Amino acid sequence: MKYFWTLLIIPFILFSCTYEKAEVPQKEDVCDSIISYSEDIRPILDNNCIGCHSGGFTPGDYSDYAGIKSKVDNGTLKLHIVTLRDMPPPPETITDDQRKIIKCWVEQGGPNN
Ligand code: HEC
Repeated sequence: MKYFWTLLIIPFILFSCTYEKAEVPQKEDVCDSIISYSEDIRPILDNNCIGCHSGGFTPGDYSDYAGIKSKVDNGTLKLHIVTLRDMPPPPETITDDQRKIIKCWVEQGGPNN
């Protein structure tokens, strides 16, 4: 019975390690990383926006960087995508993740990266 207490305490130690590990995983926030215009933003615009926002029929031509950057700078991109969420016009839509990616990119200054 010399080792009784040692044997009793081993499962407890193992359990507490497992427990701590289970608490660690946290979802990484998309804003923690640098958003890329060419890899993250361009595909969203190409697939969801330039059908209307190019060619001059709709205010704003987003088929190139200068066109979308002017909407970063005057605040309308964030207004329509994050605040009003009225672009693209219903029933078309983009995912919440895509809205967040645009939001983070705007907050990072809308770099041409
Ligand atoms: C079905 C066509 C259509 C699609 C798709 C569309 N838009 Fe629009 N968008 C419009 C129209 C029309 C207006 C002008 C609305 C008005 O003036 O009331 C507008 C206005 C805007 C404005 C304000 C422009 C300004 O300078 O005042 C922004 C910013 C905008 N859209 C962003 C987007 C983004 C980003 C997407 C893609 C995620 C998108 N839109 C998709 C039709 C569209």
